[in-house]
Amino acid sequence: MGLRRIQVTDLRCLRAVALDVDSRYTLISGPNGSGKTSVLEAIYFLGRGRSFRTHRPARLIRSGCERFIVFGELDTSGGLLALGIEVTPERLRARIAGRDAASVAELASHFPVQIIDPDIHQLIEMGPAIRRRLMDWGVFHVEPPFLSAWQRYRQALAQRNAALRQRQPPTLVGAWDPDLVRTGEEIHDARLRYVARLETIAQPIVERLLGVPLELRYRSGWPAELTLNEALRMHLTTDRERGVTQVGPHRAELVVRVDGALAREHVSRGQQKLLAASLAIAQLKLLESLSPEQPTLLLDDPAAELDTRHLAGLIDEVRALRAQLIVTTLEPDFSALGEPGRKCSLHHGTLHF
Ligand SMILES: Nc1ncnc2c1ncn2[C@@H]1O[C@H](COP(=O)(O)OP(=O)(O)OP(=O)(O)O)[C@@H](O)[C@H]1O
Ligand SMILES: [Mg+2]
Repeated sequence: MGLRRIQVTDLRCLRAVALDVDSRYTLISGPNGSGKTSVLEAIYFLGRGRSFRTHRPARLIRSGCERFIVFGELDTSGGLLALGIEVTPERLRARIAGRDAASVAELASHFPVQIIDPDIHQLIEMGPAIRRRLMDWGVFHVEPPFLSAWQRYRQALAQRNAALRQRQPPTLVGAWDPDLVRTGEEIHDARLRYVARLETIAQPIVERLLGVPLELRYRSGWPAELTLNEALRMHLTTDRERGVTQVGPHRAELVVRVDGALAREHVSRGQQKLLAASLAIAQLKLLESLSPEQPTLLLDDPAAELDTRHLAGLIDEVRALRAQLIVTTLEPDFSALGEPGRKCSLHHGTLHF
């Protein structure tokens, strides 16, 4: 199960790279700027339809080229499955088993992939959007009806916001509220269930890695004492003034607390990295407990910024997963994760075996 093979064309410094991936552990080494993170970016793109480094897919197109293409072969319980992504400056095209996919989400549903990279501390440090994305990726894989609720919510929200911007009368703005409330409450309930499960799994990991108690709190995006419907009605006047819907699950927050304090304000940068990595690992653990498929974990330069003891702790947690591991490192003799099933090195965007 997991990814069997990946083929990348014209993505960043990678002109044409093909890699057979081990079902358990693949190690990619190479000096700075050789393209290691770019290989992981290509794999991540296949399962997420986006990069973890930029919001603009066209940035990934190799300078002077018109498009990038990533092709992957996935070993699923239903047999081998071909996934493809082609990105031009104008569009993104996703393919599954030789046909156009209905959406990127359809592609993503087949390939659960998570990353721990040197910037993962941003998950703790930055604003709520990045944590909502983390949470929603997990909910999406654990509760399939979530996607349709989210898509219907986004549509109703876009219509309501357009009505607000066009200064339409309150009755026309409010006409979208029943849709928003129905789908918004579905999203809320699914996230609440997910965060409770995630907390249970993440707590012992954080305890082992950081030695502090973890609390995850889900904030809905509207005042706790109101229903969503009441909150929408209460904010209608200021929504009309500002031309935007100010309450709802699109404003939700996953609050991460350690040792009784807000994590962002309480822990060091290295600890932020460990904490964020713990959440990512807990997500995979939860997924593994609920699905027979094997998720994939990308580890980009795991040794960066961690001392020996904490790196060893992180490695122990990673080894306890069933997930397929694809790891990059500067040092070709990186041995913390044991002997890789497949090993290769990158130089100037070219793979050597
Ligand atoms: N659109 C692009 N076209 C061509 N080359 C690019 C593009 N975007 C980035 N690059 C180059 O790709 C190279 C590889 O970057 P990447 O981040 O994958 O390297 P890395 O091996 O992960 O390095 P490090 O060890 O420093 O993290 C960089 O030298 C960068 O300048
Ligand atoms: Mg890198």
